[in-house]
Amino acid sequence: MLKPLKVGIAGLGTVGAGVVKLLAAQAELIAARAGRPVVVTAVSARDRTRERGVKLDGPTWHDDAVALAQDPDVDVVVELIGGAEGKAKALAQAAIAAGKDFVTANKALLAVHGAALARAAEANRVTIAYEAAVAGGIPVVKALREGLAANRVSRVAGILNGTCNYILTVMREEKRDFAEVLAEAQALGYAEADPSFDIDGVDAAHKLAILAGLAFGARIGFESLHIEGIRRVSAIDIAFARELGYRIKLLGIAEQTGAGISLRVHPAMVPERKPIATVDGVFNAVLLEGDFSGPVFLRGRGAGEGPTASAVVADLIDLARGIRVPVWGMAESALAQAHIAPITELNGAYFLRLSVVDQPGVLADVTAILRDHGISLESMLQHGRAPGEAVPIVLVTHETHEAAVNAALARIAALPAVLEPPALIRIEPQ
Ligand code: NDP
Ligand code: HSE
Repeated sequence: MLKPLKVGIAGLGTVGAGVVKLLAAQAELIAARAGRPVVVTAVSARDRTRERGVKLDGPTWHDDAVALAQDPDVDVVVELIGGAEGKAKALAQAAIAAGKDFVTANKALLAVHGAALARAAEANRVTIAYEAAVAGGIPVVKALREGLAANRVSRVAGILNGTCNYILTVMREEKRDFAEVLAEAQALGYAEADPSFDIDGVDAAHKLAILAGLAFGARIGFESLHIEGIRRVSAIDIAFARELGYRIKLLGIAEQTGAGISLRVHPAMVPERKPIATVDGVFNAVLLEGDFSGPVFLRGRGAGEGPTASAVVADLIDLARGIRVPVWGMAESALAQAHIAPITELNGAYFLRLSVVDQPGVLADVTAILRDHGISLESMLQHGRAPGEAVPIVLVTHETHEAAVNAALARIAALPAVLEPPALIRIEPQ
């Protein structure tokens, strides 16, 4: 057997401790598959005294994570700290400069600095492996970068944030409050250090930017993504969705359109019988459309210690085997500059919910505005009767243009009988 692959791990939280555990628990299997042992020789975290539920008496402890890059007893640097800047970025740069392969679960780092890091890695003849950065235990990076390498991919759509999917699922099934369920997701180790990254859609957007870069062979400017989170998804919208035969999911969608690449993260109504609508809890799912492969649907656990550690260790096994794939599936210089379509260019159907005073003529005013903007309705719902008081009205449109919907909603919101800003949820046929 060849000499061991020596691994330095920075960050020993949910994922880092999970990787140490997995490498110990499956040492023999991993050595057999990799053709040589994979051993942890050095580690770093902030608090040396913290109990982490793993044995750490063998590896060298570094107080400064960046020192792992210079440790002669480390072949591969694994970054499991998190964040697009600070220590994580400094460690990535130091590892690459030191000629060491770099493994990370850090989608923020790759979404923001992926192109520059790939250029540096190519110049230093090392690679960056990041299976764990997207969809936890689902091997979607491998699927796009290797399995579908012969295809032009036209569309990537998925549930990319386990925390949001968990929250939306529990809110729907148990009719519980958003805040209470978020606290539960944090306790289970699914949420980011700053959970607003999860619930405001930023984490899903980081992952979508990575998938889009791989799928379309393009440099994606993270700032060009349209991002909405789940804070404004209310119990009433979840109930109306159920009544209309939909489920609300936070989706990340990257697709080639006539107006350019559409890149968006937002809550969406998905017909309840479509496979993606049935993906619940912390599970993620990704639908890939290749021109020769046809549709490929992947589903699995998108967050948590075990699934994420599984993806990190898969990258380590590849490196131990000597497999080095170009960071973005092709040379960085071969990537195209993406032309991004603004969200106002989107065509689709919409769920609109208004809170209006129950009085004669309100619906006539609303539908007249929709008519003026060329928006046709598929259905309308109003329950109960409360003369002179607030009632919710739901309108479902046929396919239309987002710019027209925005213009109509601005006029509808200004009607005296409309009491709150209208709610808009895009309908995705999938
Ligand atoms: P945690 O917050 O659980 O762990 C972060 C670790 O980084 C801690 O051990 C912390 O040290 C250490 N750390 C923080 N700052 C520094 C620093 N300046 N120098 C050295 N170590 C530092 O995060 P997770 O394990 O959840 O996430 C790690 C990465 O994996 C992130 O990029 C995240 O986005 C990604 N990820 C997480 C998933 C999950 O399910 N949790 C799933 C997929 C990806 P200490 O323990 O001493 O405080
Ligand atoms: N916070 C992320 C999630 C972790 O909930 O999906 C996995 O990347």
